[in-house]
This record gives sequence, structure tokens and C-alpha cells, in this order.
Amino acid sequence: MASCSCYSVNFTAPSFNPNKPLTSPPNQLLPISRFSSSQSKLPLFSLHLNQNLSPTNFRKSRVAPTFLVVASGEKAEPLRVMISGAPASGKGTQCELITKKYNLVHIAAGDLLRAEVAAGTENGKRAKEFMERGQLVPDEIVVMMVKERLSEQDSQEKGWLLDGYPRSVSQATALKKFGFDPDIFILLEVPEEILVERVVGRRLDPVTGKIYHLKYSPPETEEIAARLTQRFDDTEEKVKLRLLTHNSNVEAVLSMYEDVIVKVDGTLPKQEVFSKIDNILTELLERKESALGSLAA
Ligand code: AP5
Repeated sequence: MASCSCYSVNFTAPSFNPNKPLTSPPNQLLPISRFSSSQSKLPLFSLHLNQNLSPTNFRKSRVAPTFLVVASGEKAEPLRVMISGAPASGKGTQCELITKKYNLVHIAAGDLLRAEVAAGTENGKRAKEFMERGQLVPDEIVVMMVKERLSEQDSQEKGWLLDGYPRSVSQATALKKFGFDPDIFILLEVPEEILVERVVGRRLDPVTGKIYHLKYSPPETEEIAARLTQRFDDTEEKVKLRLLTHNSNVEAVLSMYEDVIVKVDGTLPKQEVFSKIDNILTELLERKESALGSLAA
């Protein structure tokens, strides 16, 4: 090295916008920004100059500076995915397929609550009153429950797939405060007339946890058919109440994730819906990996 000016290069994680490319054009000066240690995630890197060199005179300088690149040795961070949609839009069905392929930790607020109800805990008893009415269970029950599951080691290491959460601005605000920001927010779009039929025909296998529909996704064998159960809130009357709750909260929640929302047509057959989600997640992973690769090069 001819010159010994020493600069450190730090890596920050601007939030991923699925509608914009992740990397800067090659001929563009990389932005100089403040290093944020709490965001050592991905994908663009920025320069943090230890010398008294402003962005302006850095550009004007005729002397090519030499950079000391501090290699992080980090591997691409796992995916952090939120999936949302009206009741019976297919969130759980897609989560089964996504976790199978991407090995993410599936965290479903509804499942966590049903587990509390089944265990007969105080929280479960209280939650059931709201679930029966198709209303949101109060934050003091849900927020810490989800936060704790997100904080567990497997969620941190494998990445997470958050299903049916957040459903209100207060839940989204709490998640942001705890530092849980998604790479992507998938919204399944299905019109209401289809949703009621899906709810009424839904059945669950208590042994495998698999979701069926008597018409669209019938059980494979007589043995499975005989043991299927129905959720206590899967009636036409209750799903209409759940839809009202969903409709009154959805826009406010979407507005908090508008940079990372991807809308997917949930009326297609389930494998086609998955194929679209699969493409989106594969591309996102590739971008994460190539951004990291270009740093290492
Ligand atoms: P939750 O359990 O989350 O229920 P939900 O949001 O109403 O969603 P569902 O589980 O009913 O539907 P889904 O989108 O997963 O559809 P699925 O894949 O099963 O919440 C229940 C309650 O808990 C709430 O009402 C609330 O009280 C409480 N709660 C939950 N989260 C909360 C929170 N964050 N804060 C406060 N309270 C909360 O599919 C449905 C059916 O359609 C199945 O039979 C399936 O086989 C079929 N199907 C799926 N995809 C397709 C397809 N592409 N084509 C044809 N059929 C399909």
C-alpha cells in the first residue's frame, strides 16, 4: 500500500424495499452514514470515515484514498417474514409450505392463543372470550407472548415467519420498539365471499396439525377424515365478526409496513399461491446473499 490513510468500513442495514434494487449502481459513491451497531444485518454497506473528511471533499479529492476494510465474516441473516390477510385467506396453509422449504420458525398468534385456551390458563380463559366474539385479544396478553417467542434462539438463528401478527397499530408499534422489523410483509388478498366458504369447510388434523378443507383440500385417507376437528370460531356467524375486526384494523397496520409490502392473489390454488411466495422469498434470499458476497469480494 502506497498510502496509509486508514478508514474503517462499516455495514449498516437499510430496510429492504422489495420494489427497489438493494445495491447501489457501481459508479455511484456509496453513502456516508452513521454506523448503527444494532443493525448489523445487511445489505448495502456504507462508509464511516474516521478522518476529518466530509462527503464533499472526499468526492473532490484527487488522492485515491486507501481503505482498511474490516471484514465481518458474517453470513447472510435469516429471513424475517410477516404474512397477513383476512380470516381464512390462507395464511396458515402457506405457512406450512413456507416453513417446509425455508425452515423458518412459524409463529402464529392464533395458535399461541389456542394453546393457552387448551391449557386452561388464566390468559387462555380471558383470550377465549374475545376469540368467541371475533375480537382482538388485548395487547397485555398477546404482545409479550409473541415477543418472547420471537426472542427465542431458534427464531433468531433460523429466521421467523410471523402469521397473523401484528393486527393493530399498537402491536406493530410494540414490535418496532423491540427491534423486530420484517424483510417483507406478504399480504394475501381474497374477496370476502370466498372467505366464508373457506372458514366453514376448514378442518384440522389434531395429530399432524395439517389444515384441510372438505372441498378444496380434502383429507388423504378415511383414517385422517375420521379424526378431523373444527375450530370453535369457524362458524359463519363468527367469521363475519372476525372480518369486521380485520377490516377495521388492516389499513392502519399496512401503513406501517408500506415499504416492504408485497400483495399476493390468494384466490389461486394453494400451490400457485405458494409458487408466487416462493419466488419472492428466493429472490429476497439471493439479494441478501449477493449483497454479502459483493462485500466479501
Ligand atoms: P387466527 O387463528 O389467526 O385466525 P384468522 O386470522 O381468522 O385466520 P385463520 O386461521 O382463520 O385463516 P388462515 O388465513 O390461516 O387460513 P387457512 O390457511 O387456515 O386468529 C383467531 C383469533 O385469535 C382472532 O379472531 C383473534 O380473536 C385472536 N388473535 C389472533 N391473532 C391476534 C392478534 N395479533 N391480536 C389479537 N388477537 C389475535 O385456510 C382457511 C381454509 O381455506 C382452509 O380450510 C384451507 O384448506 C383453505 N384454503 C387455504 N388456501 C386455499 C386456496 N388457495 N384455495 C382454496 N382453499 C384454500
